Amino acid sequence: MPDNEDNRPAGKTPRESASTLSESMMPDQLNHHGNVFGGEILALVDKAGGVVARRHARMPVVTVMVDRVEFREPVYANDFVEAHGRLIRVGRTSMEVMVTVEAEQIESGKRRTTNRCFLTYVALDMLNGKPAPVPPLILETDEDRRLHEMAERRRDRREAEAEDEGIEP
Ligand SMILES: CC(C)(COP(=O)(O)OP(=O)(O)OC[C@H]1O[C@@H](n2cnc3c(N)ncnc32)[C@H](O)[C@@H]1OP(=O)(O)O)[C@@H](O)C(=O)NCCC(=O)NCCS
Repeated sequence: MPDNEDNRPAGKTPRESASTLSESMMPDQLNHHGNVFGGEILALVDKAGGVVARRHARMPVVTVMVDRVEFREPVYANDFVEAHGRLIRVGRTSMEVMVTVEAEQIESGKRRTTNRCFLTYVALDMLNGKPAPVPPLILETDEDRRLHEMAERRRDRREAEAEDEGIEP
């Protein structure tokens, strides 16, 4: 139900859309070294982030940016992989999601954080496919506020870099 003149839906917390996707890695997902191919991890990350954004917006979404992709450690064949997504910033029609990837060695149960990245999605109106307003983000916990401030700083840096490089942010 819209709660203001901008036709913006009522606000929601990051907790309401947080999601985890899990996958058991298969031999056809490995690279030449026998570890999991980076593109497979990125696909899982994008799917997990997309679920978070769709849960928040309750509309179709598209990915508009993937920021700071890091592969800190390899993911091995047979690892069980989980991608945890949580919303950290919301604009008018855009949503930034932080996705953290954990790999679990099944036999030992040992878990490692292997990747973290930040993805931006835009909600699209189901009728005309144009960017559509999403619920504002209600920051509920200290961690929500910390991550939101970090996202704002990263956004400012991106805009400054784009200006330096002479391209549109
Ligand atoms: C998403 C899309 C419709 C937006 O169109 P647009 O003309 O840029 O729309 P706007 O300028 O109104 O921007 C809409 C929002 O997206 C944000 N945005 C657009 N490009 C962005 C980028 N590169 N990085 C971060 N945010 C971006 C804007 O800041 C704005 O956010 P806000 O409403 O929260 O302030 C268009 O960029 C598109 O179709 N991109 C392709 C998406 C795609 O195919 N993805 C891969 C497959 S899912």
